[in-house]
Amino acid sequence: MAFSRTKPPYPPLVGTTKPSFAYVTIKDRMPVIVAQVVDTVYRGYMNLETNPTNQERIREAKRIVEELGRLRYEMQTDKPLRPLEPDSHPDFEHWNKVLAHELPGNTWYTASWLFSECYMYRRIYQMFAHTTHWATYDYFAESKQSTFYASHKAVGALAERILTMVKGLRASEEATTPENRELAFKELAQASLWGNRTDLSLLVNLNLADIHTIQNGNDKDVEAYILANDLPMWWKMVQLWKGERLDIVLDNAGIEVFADMVFAHWMVQAGYCTKVVFHCKAIPWFVSDTTVDDFHWVVNTCCDRFRSAGYHDFEHLSSLTQLAKQWQAYLANGTWELRADSFWTLPDPFWNLPVVAPGLHQDLRQAATVVFKGDLNYRKLMHDCDWPSTTPFSEAIGTLAENGTRLPVVALRTSKADLMVGMPKGRKEELDGLDPKWMVSGKYAVIQASLE
Ligand code: F6P
Ligand code: MG
Repeated sequence: MAFSRTKPPYPPLVGTTKPSFAYVTIKDRMPVIVAQVVDTVYRGYMNLETNPTNQERIREAKRIVEELGRLRYEMQTDKPLRPLEPDSHPDFEHWNKVLAHELPGNTWYTASWLFSECYMYRRIYQMFAHTTHWATYDYFAESKQSTFYASHKAVGALAERILTMVKGLRASEEATTPENRELAFKELAQASLWGNRTDLSLLVNLNLADIHTIQNGNDKDVEAYILANDLPMWWKMVQLWKGERLDIVLDNAGIEVFADMVFAHWMVQAGYCTKVVFHCKAIPWFVSDTTVDDFHWVVNTCCDRFRSAGYHDFEHLSSLTQLAKQWQAYLANGTWELRADSFWTLPDPFWNLPVVAPGLHQDLRQAATVVFKGDLNYRKLMHDCDWPSTTPFSEAIGTLAENGTRLPVVALRTSKADLMVGMPKGRKEELDGLDPKWMVSGKYAVIQASLE
């Protein structure tokens, strides 16, 4: 991996800025996430019988818990960020180069927020990677899975909806008019967008009722919360496709990735795409991000595990099974492909993609559109810095809109960080007046595109 070189054109978001969401995240949210991992591991080994076979497993788990405690202490006392130790994931060298060249002597609060936050997840991963018995253990799996079960009503409703829409595609010509196709495209792209509200790193203490409220939305006119909407521009392009490749850089598992699958399903069934590449995370990331295992888990759960998990009388079971069987076939015949490049779990902004991961960048250029889901991907697209909110989206994605390194980018993001571009003059100030937390609440969203 080549070493990154781009610099943000404005000051990076940092934890030393008070008040800011970066500060609150490092001070309050990140230590809670570490504590949750401690709790998961603790429960994991306390349930093990203390027989000779488990001895080493328990010893390793106790060591992880100790190391997590140390990490929390380093974070809370703002110690300098130390280099990663070598581990099975060869990207550690890149992390250490960034630390040595760009951040020497920096601490959790003085380093860029983007670096500190990604670094925490990489440090946690390392503790497990160093063990024999816990190396492949996903300490976030339990919360990802239980949230998906808790979302079953929204999942079932969406499954019924897509099956009806696909039936419509086969029905009379009248039902498949360009207007109807446009409506379907917009509805499903927006379902994928709003799926991004259920981010578990932000919603750490959610209960079932909260999840239902978020997913059903209390507001009738959700479109009013989409502050920039380039869907019409994207649709203009998509309606000319005759079997293109669509790439989706995924964000969260559970209902969000389910909605992404539904969107991809329609794009294939409607004949616009013959291939959809889903980019997953290579390691557990930002609590709820989708790994390859999570993707399969969602498909397999829709296929048959709802029943075994006790949802016998769930009215949408057979629709879900029908849909998921089709998805299993897509995965088997290559119509859908899963990839997990380690670039997505580096601390690098996407401006560095052409230099740091040239192979991945070249590959993404085969896609007719690369969709970036969620808030963290948006921050990385923007170099996570303090842009004037009126900056055009294409300017803020830097190298990804420049000649020679351009990608056809669409961002679908609900806003959960102090960062927003592409706003008309005065809009930010107006929203600041309405709600000082509008940028971090997840209530507002953008659909922004750079397509040429
Ligand atoms: O914690 C920082 C952050 O990037 C937030 O901005 C956001 O709440 C979360 O992590 C990730 O959100 P998403 O899952 O949408 O990328
Ligand atoms: Mg996420």
